[in-house]
Amino acid sequence: MPLPTRTVETTGLAWAVRSSFRRYVQRVAMGAEVTDGGVGSLPDGRFYFPIDGVQLLDREALDAEITFSGGVRFVGHAGMIDVRLGEFRLRLVAGEGTLQTNSSDGARDLVDVQVAAISDDGGVVTLLLASRLAEGAADLFDEVYPTATPFDDLELRAALES
Ligand code: HEM
Repeated sequence: MPLPTRTVETTGLAWAVRSSFRRYVQRVAMGAEVTDGGVGSLPDGRFYFPIDGVQLLDREALDAEITFSGGVRFVGHAGMIDVRLGEFRLRLVAGEGTLQTNSSDGARDLVDVQVAAISDDGGVVTLLLASRLAEGAADLFDEVYPTATPFDDLELRAALES
């Protein structure tokens, strides 16, 4: 029997950003979510961000530096809301770190993350990360969420080096 082939779908980042924000954009602000750069939607509604590169992934130390392709743009209130989050860079040191997003003014912190669970499956490691809005990121959401507001958990699957 042939071994299963690892495809781009088996690794990547699944994240809904913040579910209440998505409901607000779609229902209250009569808006839309526009994905680009290979970002998809999973059956459970989370976005799927493909891995661009794994610069570092140390499963024992829980150190990582991983970049992701593409992004999602939230638009609403007839253009008053227009936020694109993308080209993420995850940095972890000893299980804690930050997810940065790219924006017109360069890379900036989006959420602080912390490893909540870890599992391995045939050379692919899955990390579940709790997340909170990073200091200095509140303006991305019109200052509505204070720093450290909980955002949705991130699920990261990445191949360990063989
Ligand atoms: C025409 C301008 C705007 C109006 C009239 C408006 C109105 C509102 C209203 C009524 C709510 C409460 C919704 C609810 O609780 O169901 C809300 C929440 C919110 N607004 Fe706006 N807003 C505007 C612009 C913006 C902009 C530019 C942003 C930037 C991203 C933004 C981000 C948010 C966020 C993050 C929430 C909280 C959503 C949640 O998690 O429940 N708003 N806004």
